Amino acid sequence: MQIAKTVSELREIVREWRSAGQSVALVPTMGNLHPGHIALVNRAKEKANRVVVSIFVNPMQFGVGEDFETYPRTEREDQEKLNISGADLLFLPTVSEVYAQNAKTTVSVTDLSEWYCGASRPGHFNGVTTIVCKLFNMVQPDIALFGLKDFQQFTLIRTIVRDLNIPVEIIGVKTVREISGLAMSSRNGYLTPEEKNVAAKIYQSLCTARNAILSGQQSYEEIERQGVLFLLESGLQPDYFCICRASDLKKADIDDIELVLLTAAKLGKTRLIDNLCFTKHEAA
Ligand code: PAF
Repeated sequence: MQIAKTVSELREIVREWRSAGQSVALVPTMGNLHPGHIALVNRAKEKANRVVVSIFVNPMQFGVGEDFETYPRTEREDQEKLNISGADLLFLPTVSEVYAQNAKTTVSVTDLSEWYCGASRPGHFNGVTTIVCKLFNMVQPDIALFGLKDFQQFTLIRTIVRDLNIPVEIIGVKTVREISGLAMSSRNGYLTPEEKNVAAKIYQSLCTARNAILSGQQSYEEIERQGVLFLLESGLQPDYFCICRASDLKKADIDDIELVLLTAAKLGKTRLIDNLCFTKHEAA
């Protein structure tokens, strides 16, 4: 696996691949790679000739008092995992390589970036859409792969690609879960084994809500209220628990068929998110 630390090194390598007629996939990450990231790399390898993985802990998407400083940085282990997984190029830029000191341009999506996680983390999604747009311009991939665990992020990225005519195909990859159902996340590393058992209740709350909808329960407000209550009783501090339309993440009404349940909750200082997508025709 090659490693590029600057945009010009990256572009030179990608240019060579392009002139050999090869297609390029990008897997953007913030490192501390787990099986969820490796699933993205594996899928990328199926879809393109060459796979670029970026590791960049993006300061712009962390708010004041959040975990930017302590976010796990495990460069050596990550490199080993990427070598084994068969990625072709690791893009590992510094903050000053990515952001000009006098940068004046950001990318933001109205409304959607302010809902759900955006309401609790003001500015977070502007940081995400800006860095993703910049990475697309740096790498110029044919396709880019993102985990569906961050469903709001995934929807925002599809929105910028549509609205800004960015010539990249966006592919969402299914959430990888622990046996307990807990969605794999770099932030799980902050949890003790006991806390991990509690955190697994998040997926349980989503499954219960989905089953209630599929078995014909009509009051979405009541299902959401029960979801919040279950999380509270399990020892979590719920931020939101919402039944949404999968296409645009607006609150779902009873006639909507493609649904996604979105939730976020804190366990101590650790903020965890998860979601569950389904169609109303599935059997309960
Ligand atoms: O999902 C992440 O790890 C990050 O938000 C991303 C997409 C790499 C942007 O920094």
